[in-house]
Amino acid sequence: MTTPYPDRSRVDAYAKVRGAATYAADAQFADLVHAMTVPSPVAKGTLTALDTEAASRVPGVLRILTAADFAHAVPEGTHMGAPPPTLETRIAYLGQPLALVVAETLEGAIEAAEAVRPIIEEEPFAALMTSPGAVRENAEGMEAGDVEAAFAEARTIIEAEYHSPTQHHNPMEMVSTTAVWADGRLTIHEGTQNSGAVRSAVARLLRLDPAIVEVKSPTVGGAFGQKGWAQRQTAIVAHAAMLLGRPVKLVMPRAQVFHVATHRPHIVHRIRLGADASGRMVAIEHDAAQQNSRQGPFPPEYHEAAIRLYGIASYRGTAADVRTDVSNPAHMRAPYEHPAIFAMESAVDELAAALERDPVEFRMANDATHDPHTGQPYSSRFLNECFAEGASRFGWSSRSAAPGSMTAPDGTQIGWGVAGGVYPALVHPVIARLRIYADGRTRFSVAGHEFGQGIRTVLANVLLRELEVRDDQLEILIGDTTVARQHLTAGSWGSFSAAPAAAAAAQKMQAAVTELLDGRRIGGSLHQQLATVRRPFVEVEVTQFGPGQDAALLEQWQNYNFAVTGPAYPGFTAMSYIAHFVEVRVEPRTRRVRVPRVVSIADCGRVLSPRTAESQVRGGVIWGIGHALREATETDPRYGGYLNCDFADYVVAVNADIGEIDVGFIDRPDPLANSLGAKGLGEVAMVGVSAAVANAVFHATGRRIRELPIRIEHLL
Ligand code: MOS
Repeated sequence: MTTPYPDRSRVDAYAKVRGAATYAADAQFADLVHAMTVPSPVAKGTLTALDTEAASRVPGVLRILTAADFAHAVPEGTHMGAPPPTLETRIAYLGQPLALVVAETLEGAIEAAEAVRPIIEEEPFAALMTSPGAVRENAEGMEAGDVEAAFAEARTIIEAEYHSPTQHHNPMEMVSTTAVWADGRLTIHEGTQNSGAVRSAVARLLRLDPAIVEVKSPTVGGAFGQKGWAQRQTAIVAHAAMLLGRPVKLVMPRAQVFHVATHRPHIVHRIRLGADASGRMVAIEHDAAQQNSRQGPFPPEYHEAAIRLYGIASYRGTAADVRTDVSNPAHMRAPYEHPAIFAMESAVDELAAALERDPVEFRMANDATHDPHTGQPYSSRFLNECFAEGASRFGWSSRSAAPGSMTAPDGTQIGWGVAGGVYPALVHPVIARLRIYADGRTRFSVAGHEFGQGIRTVLANVLLRELEVRDDQLEILIGDTTVARQHLTAGSWGSFSAAPAAAAAAQKMQAAVTELLDGRRIGGSLHQQLATVRRPFVEVEVTQFGPGQDAALLEQWQNYNFAVTGPAYPGFTAMSYIAHFVEVRVEPRTRRVRVPRVVSIADCGRVLSPRTAESQVRGGVIWGIGHALREATETDPRYGGYLNCDFADYVVAVNADIGEIDVGFIDRPDPLANSLGAKGLGEVAMVGVSAAVANAVFHATGRRIRELPIRIEHLL
């Protein structure tokens, strides 16, 4: 816990830049066949017939799977909600797969899929939150203190409504499944953050013994919640492979990903925020209504983090699902915190402006001493240190306070904005195995998935600091149900859960080798020591729990693949924090907004891997800028579904949108969260960025934009 970790380069960097890292769809098989789905052309109704005559005549077509092939499937009860991720005749959203064509070639599969004619009895549908037939359903909220009394005391109150749009994940790696049925075993190659749940979902849906199902996802090309559960096509492709006895591959075209994969829902936030006569924030009401599908299980939990950003004693968070006929929304990087903090940190900025307070000084004056929800102390909290360090690096002290008061010689308006971010420190139990060989190899297997965030580099950094082993023959085995029991890698708990286990396994290994040497003094690496005593290898296993966790969670994990706890632990609450400082430049004629520089300072406890941690934050900031200025999925009110389903029309931030991003860390260990003093980082990185951009736009122009993305037309 005591000293900073060294700046190791990514352990998979060379493999990735040489194209040697293999992704799920890279898996090669001699007798592989190809699949393509037939998407529903309507948003709601019943499929009464499928005309497959023309499709069957396409050369090389092997089989067209329909709902009839899934009569045996488990109809409900998966994490995906309804409709179940198989083929069925009830149509719940535009693009829902109605059939799967399998052919010898990809071209044949595509041609035949396009030739299938579905006959559908259509029904009226609601595409938007404001459509007739959209139904508001209140969900559980969160409350602390006495909100009415606090508002009665308040002297300055801000009330406003903020909108964050529907957004779709667009990772570089396409959504895909390759399934192999051989020797009584089903092996699924799929880019996923949850190989364990893919295994149990497929087993349940197809009524198989989980023991014959394995899932492999050693490298994922971007996963931010989209790949958290079995995907829409997984069990369908697996069933096709079993029926045909040949490996089947489906790579979902990007346009279909918009319809079948999960997304971040449209959210309407209504905020009321009050400060007392001394300028202290005393009360907040935050209602978050999200668009949901009719039966989607994604709960609107927008308050858990927001309540813990500042020391606001009285908090009332209410939430609702607005039920419509769309596909299921689900987790997308900082799914609750990012949109909730956009709204809340915009409101905090509005309040600071109303009170004529400096936005940084105002935030720092409203720091928390304890968790308002539980009354517990925080394990560590260096949010104000983030603000102070960020302000100093950014040069905040030379900011001129009045909106519109900073301009470049050509008339470009300059704005400086700030916002904080917060994310719960969540932890999952893990079981890890470490094996060191006399021949120079080291293998560490644990639950975790590598989707670019750097978990392998984190684990290598921890192991190599503890153990004298060769770094060029260290294998980190993750994302594969055959190497260790897997859990969902998400919620920023991946490295946070696995890294303390790596340290514990290393210590257990040292003890095992010491015992083996039995008092003899042998120099050199652990490999050499084992060779000297003629031991081919030594293996240790550790079971690692987070604070307050015990064996009951292992059972839960076994049965449901989900056993996360936090951020409230026995005796303390653990959160990660960040402060973002953003400069925007608004061109005087075109009103185009640019972001030439950002400074982001994070408190994630001890930084376990400086290189990948910095990348994580930079990536989060880039996505936050995209969220603030570019990304939105446009819903089609005429037919349902979405309109801008490709990279030309769904605009993400690109190189030209990004200037300088200066990332820093407080890097002070958390004394309670775990043995390494680390807290999660992946998601807090993004939280608050879009508010900081909106706040900077306000400072530049005097225009408060409460709707994302901020577009040229907002500033004309
Ligand atoms: Mo992330 S939304 O927890 O995969």
